Amino acid sequence: MNSQALIDTAAALVADDKGLLAMDESTPTCNKRFAVYGIPQNEDYRRAYRELLITTPGLSTYISGAILYDETILQNTQDGTSMITALTAAGIIPGIKVDTGAPALAGHPGEQVSAGLDGLRERLADYARLGARFAKWRAKFVVKADLPSHGCIEANAHALARYAALSQEAGMVPIVEPEVLMDGDHSLARCRTVTETVQHAVFAQLRSQRVLLEGIILKPNMVLPGTDSAESVTTDMIAEATIGALLRTVPAAVAGVAFLSGGQTPERATVRLNAMHVRYAACLPWALTFSFSRALQQPVLEIWRGAADNAQAAQRALLQRALCNHAARRGTYVSTTEPS
Ligand code: G3H
Repeated sequence: MNSQALIDTAAALVADDKGLLAMDESTPTCNKRFAVYGIPQNEDYRRAYRELLITTPGLSTYISGAILYDETILQNTQDGTSMITALTAAGIIPGIKVDTGAPALAGHPGEQVSAGLDGLRERLADYARLGARFAKWRAKFVVKADLPSHGCIEANAHALARYAALSQEAGMVPIVEPEVLMDGDHSLARCRTVTETVQHAVFAQLRSQRVLLEGIILKPNMVLPGTDSAESVTTDMIAEATIGALLRTVPAAVAGVAFLSGGQTPERATVRLNAMHVRYAACLPWALTFSFSRALQQPVLEIWRGAADNAQAAQRALLQRALCNHAARRGTYVSTTEPS
């Protein structure tokens, strides 16, 4: 393992107030998002859509890395260039999602454990040969009165750490994504408690598996009340709860923290990231950025709708969202940054 190379890649992923474009939706998830806009759900359209994203002119001004899905990493752009080559030529670091989904966790009704450790060493070596320089693994945690269970937290934290160690062995920076889900009627305080418990378990396992913290990026949820909660919270309360939870659990050695968007609207995700920088920039030990999928892509899909004629306008929408989040990283985002 070349520690310095991992540290350098992790640093490059969070440098210059840039963030990551998560475009690693599995085929069923991508199809589900296409279905909303009546876009044909087949490989040709998924390929064309992913090409549209990565060939957006100027994207690397705001985006440091892109997380691909297995189908995409093996595809080419229309002119025959591999997606990885196109990304690299554009100045964007290619990465790959490597968990294979989250089947039910035996003995734990309503909970899942992310899968994909079997054969992971070989898959990582293949992806590294193709040119991927980082890898992502997502674990999800359902919040209910009695969930997540200790068993679910422990199993997922252990799997995250095993994947992270294998990733670093392959020379790839692990993007460690423990996601406390927004679904449910839980309060902001409950989300904070669960987030702290999960992060604490994840970092205990990362230490136990000898993962180099300077060579990882943490991809957590923001601390939010559940989507069915009637609680009214301000942006400042969310910023305080999120940063408070992370400061208590995430070691300063970690290279960067890059939030998932989790179903927030694009504007809300941006406003909340901005507020964290406005209030806490001076006391953050790690780079704090974004690794959004829906909060970057939703306006793109809305405009594209599968029509080649809409591609340029869709790319402009992606660039605009990336610019807004880049501004949020500096704490300089204002609503007038948005298109009218
Ligand atoms: O695994 C999930 C993605 O990497 C982040 O997606 O921003 O839509 O939550 P999201």
